[in-house]
Amino acid sequence: MSDLTKTVSDSSLTHLAIIMDGNGRWAKRRGLPRVAGHQQGVEAVTRIVDECVRSGIRFLSLFAFSSENWGRPQQEVDALMGLLLQYLSSQRQKMLSEGIRLKVIGDRNRLSEMVRTALADAEKETSQGQSLTLVLALSYGGRDEIMRAAKKIAQDALDGQLDIEQLDNKSFSAFLDTGDIPEPDLLIRTSGEVRISNFLLWQAAYAEFYFTDVFWPDFDAEELHKAINVYQQRKRRFGLTEDQVGLAIKESND
Ligand code: FPP
Repeated sequence: MSDLTKTVSDSSLTHLAIIMDGNGRWAKRRGLPRVAGHQQGVEAVTRIVDECVRSGIRFLSLFAFSSENWGRPQQEVDALMGLLLQYLSSQRQKMLSEGIRLKVIGDRNRLSEMVRTALADAEKETSQGQSLTLVLALSYGGRDEIMRAAKKIAQDALDGQLDIEQLDNKSFSAFLDTGDIPEPDLLIRTSGEVRISNFLLWQAAYAEFYFTDVFWPDFDAEELHKAINVYQQRKRRFGLTEDQVGLAIKESND
């Protein structure tokens, strides 16, 4: 069986990615400051991480702060960084006891030294976690990630460490921040917006998309399972024909 048909015949959900959107609107509707929406957003993060562990999902990627979010008012940027630091310290024990491994993707150079250190410490401490890998996208942009990968590749080629002729999709992927993480199977975006907004551009090439009007602070286990049920009804073809997919599934069941 080829790698592709093997992928087609496997309908399990290994990697879930989420664009957590709608914190500001959730707060505005209640006459609250935007940061109150972000605080509730952190509660939703905790709920969904717990549910992913319970459901046996192996990778959860959360778009927590985009490259473009640096342009928000300084007060909101500071509040988001503060919430991130609080999250890391409040979840530390649980991450260790439940085997949750933290991995950060994005351009860390733009983060403050305090945030960088807290993230590096948490990644190191949780590195042996075997249940869920929690991928936090921070100061992250898909184009920026691809550009940084291209620069590394060019440098390695100039240094004589890489033969450009040998470069293919798989070896290119290894230069991305996501390295050896499998590609996302399902990408959820909350709050009614129907865009990818520069998240996992390369990796989401064959992801299934699920959009919901629910604002992120209201997203819970029930909403997650609605999305998973829809995903399980989808027929993933990865560019193959329906007959080839049917055959791959039959072969894997035999
Ligand atoms: C989008 O809502 C959300 C963000 C830009 C930040 C997401 C951050 C969190 C959920 C909290 C911090 C995360 C962790 C992991 C501790 P928005 O502000 O763009 O909402 P709007 O479109 O309604 O204005």
